[in-house]
Amino acid sequence: MAKVTLEDIVSLCKRRGFIYQGSEIYGGLAGTWDYGPLGAVLKRNIVNEWLKFFVDGWDDMYLIDSAILMNPKVWEASGHADTFHDPLVECSNCGSRFREDQVDAGKCPNCGKAKTFGKPRQFNMMFKTHIGPVDDEKSISYLRPETAQGMFTNFKNIVDSFSPDLPFGLAQVGRNFRNEISPRDFIFRAREFEIMEFEWFLAEKDWEKYFEKWRGDMHSWFRKLGLDKDRVKEIEVPASDRAHYSKRTIDFYYDFPSLGFDELAGLAYRTDFDLKNHQEHSGKNLEYRPKDGSKPFIPHVIEPTFGVDRHVMAVISNSYSEDEQDGEKRIFLKLPAHLAPVKVAVFPLLKNKPELTKKAREVYKMLKKENEAGMLGPRTTGTVAWDDNGNIGKRYRRQDEIGTPHTITIDFQTLEDNTVTVRSRDTTDQERVRVNEVSKKLS
Ligand code: GAP
Repeated sequence: MAKVTLEDIVSLCKRRGFIYQGSEIYGGLAGTWDYGPLGAVLKRNIVNEWLKFFVDGWDDMYLIDSAILMNPKVWEASGHADTFHDPLVECSNCGSRFREDQVDAGKCPNCGKAKTFGKPRQFNMMFKTHIGPVDDEKSISYLRPETAQGMFTNFKNIVDSFSPDLPFGLAQVGRNFRNEISPRDFIFRAREFEIMEFEWFLAEKDWEKYFEKWRGDMHSWFRKLGLDKDRVKEIEVPASDRAHYSKRTIDFYYDFPSLGFDELAGLAYRTDFDLKNHQEHSGKNLEYRPKDGSKPFIPHVIEPTFGVDRHVMAVISNSYSEDEQDGEKRIFLKLPAHLAPVKVAVFPLLKNKPELTKKAREVYKMLKKENEAGMLGPRTTGTVAWDDNGNIGKRYRRQDEIGTPHTITIDFQTLEDNTVTVRSRDTTDQERVRVNEVSKKLS
């Protein structure tokens, strides 16, 4: 198979209704993307799997959903107001602006002129907005650039309501906003995106033990998504490149088409940096009181963080496959069945034969019911689809490209012996199966 490019992925996503450019009919809006019906379900399946893997299975993990708008003092305490910067350079010839590390060659990527960049200036990436009807200094607020702060600001609430023992975790999945100087590479670097992450609060002495524990679990998570082992690697982030709050960070890189290895997720030891600063700035006591009566202290934190959109991009890239069928190139997505937006598609062989469509409708309804009852394999939001559009070959192509693991065709033989053809996406093998045994075959 020829090397898959980012263009192949972007084109499939648009063609088949996974992801579109944001505000496309108005020429787009840089750094924004809209998920179409299939992308929305794929994304939701990834998030649901993440919740199952990192939250639901644990007694000591608490899911929260905090507000995107936060008191601006949060960002002073967290350090984002002062340090959430990227170095910005401006071309003196054409006025284009770039992040400094993107003009390594010293030539302007827009006009091509060399040596037109002056000294970089620090550009804060938080999106500013105004709360209420008056646009003055006092009404300034920010759209959150990370979900983590909602976990720190609710630490005391959770301790007061649930009295958890240490260690315990607060998890969250939600939207984040960063005014990236140069959004690029499809959904890889956007201005609005989602993060799934959790803060694991612990006693300082335990940080190394749990850092290793979550490091191992993160690898298991990537396997669960079906990502190839040799396409995921760890990078130990040197002190000079670490976020202002971190004493140790490992980034997990995925080998994205065209981009090569780049960040998919991260694991940071945030020490007691955040809680300590929130205690100072808010004046509220954020110490944890051990139940054995020993001295209260501010817990330290390990933070595994995962970019949802980069996960969608990695899963699609990892699944993208090509082969040749009957002398023609075929594109298909080898999505793991538990992530596929459509689990199974039902086809009447011919659209204009009422006896076939009637029987196919019956099978379709039966499978929909069985899917609701969790009988078609892992319980996700994947649906049963109906497709009678175009010839069978075209329908196979369509379903292969969106990663539907199986398709079912109702033909004239079905009317005689109540069997259907079940076709596998990956092998294209076809098999006759009795209607009442289809769910067993798919699960
Ligand atoms: N609370 C820690 C934190 O926010 P981060 O490394 O800045 O850490 C978390 O972001 C994850 O979000 C990254 O590992 C990456 O997958 C994703 N991410 C970061 N910036 C992004 C952007 N501009 N567009 C899409 N995803 C992004």
